[in-house]
Amino acid sequence: MSESGRRAFITGISGQDGSYLAELLLARGYEVHGLIRRASTFNTRRLDSIYRDPHENAPLILHYGDLSDGVSLTNLIRDLQPHEIYHLGAQSHVRVSFDIPDYTAQTTGLGTLRILEAIRASGVQTRFYQASSSEMFGAAPPPQNERTPFHPRSPYGAAKVFAYWITVNFREAYGVFAVNGLLFNHESPRRGETFVTRKISRAVARIQAGLQDKLYLGNLDALRDWGYAPDFVLAMWMMLQQPKADDFVIATGESHTIREFLDLAFGRVGLDWHDYVEVDPRYYRPSEVDHLRGDASKAQRVLGWQPSVRFPELVALMVDADIQLLEDELAGRLVGVDRES
Ligand SMILES: NC(=O)c1ccc[n+]([C@@H]2O[C@H](COP(=O)([O-])OP(=O)(O)OC[C@H]3O[C@@H](n4cnc5c(N)ncnc54)[C@H](OP(=O)(O)O)[C@@H]3O)[C@@H](O)[C@H]2O)c1
Repeated sequence: MSESGRRAFITGISGQDGSYLAELLLARGYEVHGLIRRASTFNTRRLDSIYRDPHENAPLILHYGDLSDGVSLTNLIRDLQPHEIYHLGAQSHVRVSFDIPDYTAQTTGLGTLRILEAIRASGVQTRFYQASSSEMFGAAPPPQNERTPFHPRSPYGAAKVFAYWITVNFREAYGVFAVNGLLFNHESPRRGETFVTRKISRAVARIQAGLQDKLYLGNLDALRDWGYAPDFVLAMWMMLQQPKADDFVIATGESHTIREFLDLAFGRVGLDWHDYVEVDPRYYRPSEVDHLRGDASKAQRVLGWQPSVRFPELVALMVDADIQLLEDELAGRLVGVDRES
């Protein structure tokens, strides 16, 4: 048993949020179990700094599984008996969800139902966190809060709406301690390389080093509320420590366009993005989400949560991390993806 006597299970542990959350829980003395997919190459590089050989009685243990495999999820949850389950696994890319909508519904939507059914069927007494998303609000005008009606504009957003409601349903129908965190965009040096913020920060590093000439992007006018991923995983943990299960919007309350992100990111190295960026309509979504700006006043009031990193600092730290990462790669010193600490 761990130092704190607590055991957590994280799906999506190999992703941006999963890796930060695993660090947070390990630092708080949890025994952490994570679900990873079998792949032909290593897919756990975000965990390199915290993973130890299981033969050393390590507090981080990884298990193979998949959100499409309900039987193995039920067996795993029954065997682990976790006190807390953080369900972060998903096909999480909005643009890609238009290309693979069926798969997105299977994993991002039904994957949540499979975990909840595993909890119900195994009878495990646990607390469940669902990674809900601001993309569920879609076309609803800002600011969006817990009472804003959903109007998703992508298969991803629609799948997350199903997952949101099935979480509420298991809370109401079976009394499961199940919460939705409605998180607005959150970024970091560990953000996947195909998400727009990371695409920009990587390109700045490569353009400055003379390795890239152009950066092709889609809609530059989209307004998003961007926070810092470590701040947001702290909110996930806080939600599961409450006396009562409830849903919370987590956001910074500020929105900025992609153009503003470009201004700051290229400006960080003294370049003008207009010289390098071109719009490629292939990156447009069949239906766009124009403006997301969250109202997290309930989380501030009830959880005492607030963001510690604001937009300009976020852009700067992502660009600096990608410059350092590239320097390390070029010098043959690549040790992992996390360069900010
Ligand atoms: N980041 C944001 O701005 C944001 C905002 C709101 C909500 N969310 C949601 O929060 C969660 C975490 O986001 P993130 O940014 O950390 O996403 P991410 O970096 O894309 O990570 C997604 C995780 O899900 C795993 N996964 C995908 N398909 C799976 C499957 N079929 N079976 C098992 N695992 C699977 C991935 O595994 P591999 O590593 O093997 O691919 C990865 O560990 C997601 O549910 C996302 O939709 C994110």
